[in-house]
Amino acid sequence: MIALAPGLIWRPAYFSREEQQALLDDIRAVLRTAPLFTPAMPRTGKPFSVRMSNCGPLGWVSDRDGYRYQSRHPQTGAPWPAIPQRLLDLWAAVAGYERPPQACLVNYYHPAARMGLHVDGDEQELRAPVVSVSLGATCLFRYGGARRADPTRSLKLQSGDVIVIGGASRLVYHGVDRLYPATSTLVAGDGRVNLTLRRISSGD
Ligand code: SIN
Ligand code: FE2
Repeated sequence: MIALAPGLIWRPAYFSREEQQALLDDIRAVLRTAPLFTPAMPRTGKPFSVRMSNCGPLGWVSDRDGYRYQSRHPQTGAPWPAIPQRLLDLWAAVAGYERPPQACLVNYYHPAARMGLHVDGDEQELRAPVVSVSLGATCLFRYGGARRADPTRSLKLQSGDVIVIGGASRLVYHGVDRLYPATSTLVAGDGRVNLTLRRISSGD
């Protein structure tokens, strides 16, 4: 366990290979009910290179109208499937927050996908961390401070790693610069799956 900054905790190799495979199987089941969709940037409508889905009572979506959490899949109109027990167990073990997560965003990266620097700030309950799991290809993860212009550092996130973004670092900028080619033995096509568990509200 490595504290990258106060509240920003990296747990390399948190999940064993067997656990990673089981988690990926859980996510495949989620995606059969809630297929990946391509989000778009607010206003411009420019598509993200990452495709997304969600599980949990709420899911994060982005389109021309903006970013938000909603209870239904934007294309099928169906409620999101439940968060797999393995991920609820992870949250209970590392989040340090009394209530369960309300959303799990599933990000799928094809080999050329990336995610620009951003803050996860659409949640009202900022006392709860964001808990992030990496599966598949290794990526170059970048994080900085509370302001976009703050200096950044980067590290290689590998399959099975967990990052907790909480406490004094809850609103730090972060993103994924790129994937490393031919590093996935778990996700077909050398892709990467990132799961982020979030608590949106402090109450029920
Ligand atoms: C995110 O910030 O939503 C994703 C981070 C990652 O893919 O590791
Ligand atoms: Fe994020």
